[in-house]
Amino acid sequence: MTPEPELDRLLTAVLAQVQADDPRLAEIVRSAVTHLHAFVREVRPTEEEWLRGLDFLVRTGRTCTPTRNEFILLSDMLGLTSAVDEVNHAGPPEATPSSVEGPFHSPAPARPLGAWIADGPERERAEPMVVHGRVTDCAGTPLAGATVDVWQADDAGHYDTQDAAQPDGNLRALLTTDSDGRYWFRSVLPSSYPVPTDGPVGGLLSALGRHPMRPAHIHLRVEAAGHRPVTTHVFVAGDPYLDSDAAFAVKDALVVTPRPGTDGRRWELDGSYLDFAFDVRLVEL
Ligand SMILES: [Fe+2]
Repeated sequence: MTPEPELDRLLTAVLAQVQADDPRLAEIVRSAVTHLHAFVREVRPTEEEWLRGLDFLVRTGRTCTPTRNEFILLSDMLGLTSAVDEVNHAGPPEATPSSVEGPFHSPAPARPLGAWIADGPERERAEPMVVHGRVTDCAGTPLAGATVDVWQADDAGHYDTQDAAQPDGNLRALLTTDSDGRYWFRSVLPSSYPVPTDGPVGGLLSALGRHPMRPAHIHLRVEAAGHRPVTTHVFVAGDPYLDSDAAFAVKDALVVTPRPGTDGRRWELDGSYLDFAFDVRLVEL
């Protein structure tokens, strides 16, 4: 970077005053200040542009409510949530990759294996689907008694917490794997959905020429004693937004092709249905 004596002096003066007792806090603040000063040197914002940026952050804060966090949305839309996930949860290639939790997790009702988890109006109109798989360690040894927490949107892209027509706990389940590490449940094919666009982050996406869509997915959080838990999504192959997820959460190993079901008797499903198979491999602690 070209030396600019006054800017160099300013940065040095700010860094010299970072004297937190907590060394990690000091490291974080020093790095953030250094990067932000470098940003100002590179971009050379006008005062008007700088105030506009600060106003964007003020409006982002004011949009937050107890049930809506516009800052998390901003972090998601800039790929930062996925970056933080990656630096914290990168595992061996044979393990199931993690992906961001997103804002829609809430405590799920415990349900037996095989349960129907679609109890709302979507059950009558959406494509039925069996979701099944096996939870193992990275060597393929089945993990009995693992918990599989699942949550998903319906065929219109809505979670129960966004839609008065869905009963509480709809399209959510807390399952426990059987003695062979298997889990299965009956549901409906979810749809892609837009993130909230009525706040400042939606305005930013629009100004940047970006769409707000997330490809269709099912969220999973899997835990087993003695193993590192994984929070992830499983995406529906063929979705038009797989290559441009607004939250940058798609990984190749997390994309599953729903197949036409051929064994309705096994899953207690009448008529046509989709078969969605996803195995989970956890890292031993
Ligand atoms: Fe989601």
